[in-house]
Amino acid sequence: MPTRTFLIGAARERPCTLVVCRGCCCGNPRKHPRTDHAGQVERLRAAGAEHGFQVRTTDCLGPCDQANVVVVQPSAAGRRSGGRARWVGFAMDDDCTEELVRWAAAGGPGLAEPPATLELQFIRPPRDARVRSRR
Ligand code: FES
Repeated sequence: MPTRTFLIGAARERPCTLVVCRGCCCGNPRKHPRTDHAGQVERLRAAGAEHGFQVRTTDCLGPCDQANVVVVQPSAAGRRSGGRARWVGFAMDDDCTEELVRWAAAGGPGLAEPPATLELQFIRPPRDARVRSRR
């Protein structure tokens, strides 16, 4: 028998969310000195406030060798349209940051196609994250 999920309150309207890793490697200027890590988060937050998507930071997500990692989570509407979280690796330069902004501002997974060059940076999430996202 299929399981039906009912979303109430805020979950029904949850916007696209960028989860920006800021663990041991991502965002670490000693390991990645040529990136303005703080500026990246500031830019994403400013764009999120302007375009209505959320930005939050998190501790290490796992694939440190692909830092900086950003997970683009679908909005509730995007998830209902089949969108799933996409993991972006090597998110180090301004072009990548702007593509993340563009995609999230357009609605994110399930509602808008990702920029083609951003798609090239999609990485495979760690196994436990893949299992969680299927639930
Ligand atoms: S610090 Fe980002 S994946 Fe480990």
